[in-house]
Amino acid sequence: MKIRRAVIPVAGKGTRFLPATKQVPKEMIPIINLPMIHYVVEEAILSGIEQVIFITSSGKNAIEDYFDRNFELEDFLIKSGKLKELELIQQIGKMVEVTSIRQKEQLGLGHAVLCAKDVVGNEPFAVILGDEIVRGPNPVTKQLIEVSQKNNNSSVIGVMEIDPQETSKYGIVKGDFINNEKHTMRMTTMVEKPHPSVAPSSLATPGRYIFKPEIFDALKVIPKGVGGEYQLTDAINLLAKESEVYAHIFEGERFDTGNIEGYLNATIEFALMNNDSSAMMKKIIKEKIQKYNIK
Ligand code: UTP
Repeated sequence: MKIRRAVIPVAGKGTRFLPATKQVPKEMIPIINLPMIHYVVEEAILSGIEQVIFITSSGKNAIEDYFDRNFELEDFLIKSGKLKELELIQQIGKMVEVTSIRQKEQLGLGHAVLCAKDVVGNEPFAVILGDEIVRGPNPVTKQLIEVSQKNNNSSVIGVMEIDPQETSKYGIVKGDFINNEKHTMRMTTMVEKPHPSVAPSSLATPGRYIFKPEIFDALKVIPKGVGGEYQLTDAINLLAKESEVYAHIFEGERFDTGNIEGYLNATIEFALMNNDSSAMMKKIIKEKIQKYNIK
């Protein structure tokens, strides 16, 4: 079944980026000249998504505005003859159909996804976290859609190997590989942010999922979980009791741009990968290595 909609929760407070996020949504902080959320929406589009549903909160209007047309700016660019820039911003305004839903209280990721229930309707859909970027030749959401379609349109969680000492930062998944697959498993359990001593594996989810609409039934009945929040992980476990849930080790490099280290990593990597900025970034790095005597 075609997956047409992606829910992108962006209602969080972004406390790791304060004070910038006092006034600017975390997802609008740029990596080079594109806001983080641009890369995430681009992944959705390249995966065949036709409608993006942002779960927002107060102070996040800049995200919707970014994907809207800005006729005043377009007019200014026409009058100043900046036609290349005009084309660029017009393209962004036409990228994808956008719907926004307010999450009035930030009660957790599970609650954020539940807010999309009425707009998603009775169809499978994708969930993509707005502060995690995954880059590679094949968009990660597309990879998960393919696994879902191969397996009776089941729910699929994107997972990656992490350092076993870091399990307390993630939802950790355990499963059994299916048939002769090396990357796809049937999920047996998922634990939210376990201490390394009790983690069931070192396979973590960085925020890419395909869900059957039944996830909403699970989200409606789960109690508050880890951190006093409604956890998507708890709903996934409940869903896995009633239907098959798969975990797929995706291809691609993931950047956790929701924290400063991941953000710096993405900025340097993207600048090195980009033809326009690669030479510039190499020159800067060489100079800094000399200046600070970095070994
Ligand atoms: P995070 O745990 O990264 O929270 O949420 P955050 O508020 O964005 O950032 P920090 O930790 O305070 O720095 C993971 C994702 O879930 C969304 C966030 O916007 C982020 O994309 N989220 C979280 C919601 O949309 N609603 C919530 O109630 C909680």
